Amino acid sequence: MQAPRFIAYEQAYLDFTIMESSKTMKLPGSFYKPLTIGSPAPYRELPVTLERMIHFVPPHIEKMRAKVPDLINTVDVVLGNLEDAIPADHKQAARDGFITLAKGNEFAATGLWTRINCLNSPWVLDDITEIVGEVGDKLDVIMLPKVEGIWDIHYLDQLLAQLEARHGISRPILIHAILETAEGVKNVEDIAAASPRMHGMSLGPADLAASRGMKTTRVGGGHPAYGVLADMAGDKPRSFSQQDLWHYTVAKMVDACAANGIKAFYGPFGDFSDPVACEAQFRNAFLQGCHGAWSLHPTQIGIAKQVFSPDIDEVRFAARILEAMPDGTGAVMIDGKMQDDATWKQAKVIVDLARLVAAKDPELADAYGV
Ligand code: GLV
Ligand code: MG
Repeated sequence: MQAPRFIAYEQAYLDFTIMESSKTMKLPGSFYKPLTIGSPAPYRELPVTLERMIHFVPPHIEKMRAKVPDLINTVDVVLGNLEDAIPADHKQAARDGFITLAKGNEFAATGLWTRINCLNSPWVLDDITEIVGEVGDKLDVIMLPKVEGIWDIHYLDQLLAQLEARHGISRPILIHAILETAEGVKNVEDIAAASPRMHGMSLGPADLAASRGMKTTRVGGGHPAYGVLADMAGDKPRSFSQQDLWHYTVAKMVDACAANGIKAFYGPFGDFSDPVACEAQFRNAFLQGCHGAWSLHPTQIGIAKQVFSPDIDEVRFAARILEAMPDGTGAVMIDGKMQDDATWKQAKVIVDLARLVAAKDPELADAYGV
């Protein structure tokens, strides 16, 4: 009976060692070195960009591609989707359609992203090699689905460096991970720190629900049965308050991203018939620290724009805090509320975002007064 126990211990130790070594990060000196001779140096800090909504376009549909010039003037990011929702027999057409729409438009300050197929699919290698080869100089970000650990990021990171070198691309293409598997959530901090090519990540509530074995059939949002029931109090009716199913994961993702200087996003909200619930879900994410969300339907563009642009009264109040504490230290009272170094930093987050929004939106610039 001794031997199996010993073997089990040995195996556990081996597993532990492999697990630990897989967590090993590069030494600081090597972290920012280009991964391939001739590929551009990674960014040391992310470019400052406004990304309130990542708008999904199915690029195999010509009618949808025709809307891109208008979208460029309306949204912050145009994303050509190659993964889920594109039927298997249209994968090639979607890839070709994305290359066509990327070549046929000038995106100026609007981001150009694509969501490629996942790394264990038969389509992904051609997605990456053809798109980077054809339009890599215009592509800002590749969204990588179903990221489980740093190995997924490292694979794409190295391949992109090789392709950037081969095609003479001068700006690094960034990676945005979708957090949509239980293993990904477990490894979220390592994923966020995996490479200087990391742009950020989005919560993928549909795949994550499946991966976790959650008992829902929805794409994001709440569930009427998930909530808190008030205690019994005699014969009084007991109130029930629905809770946010995604609160824990969004918070975990925001911490992992903020700690590594990258950006967190809420992903899709699938019930297009309920804009109010969409707004509520987006707003929870915004207040928790997310920078934007996906828009899958034209009506969600306006919702995201409204939610992820800071509130006018909040901006004005934040500007008063900054004005009252020019060097950011000490304590002052404004309208009966105590302000100190910490609220000064909160105010700066809001005013910095307002400035970014104002640069793109003249109407809001006036209202914000920044
Ligand atoms: C998005 O990809 C999701 O699975 O929610
Ligand atoms: Mg998904």
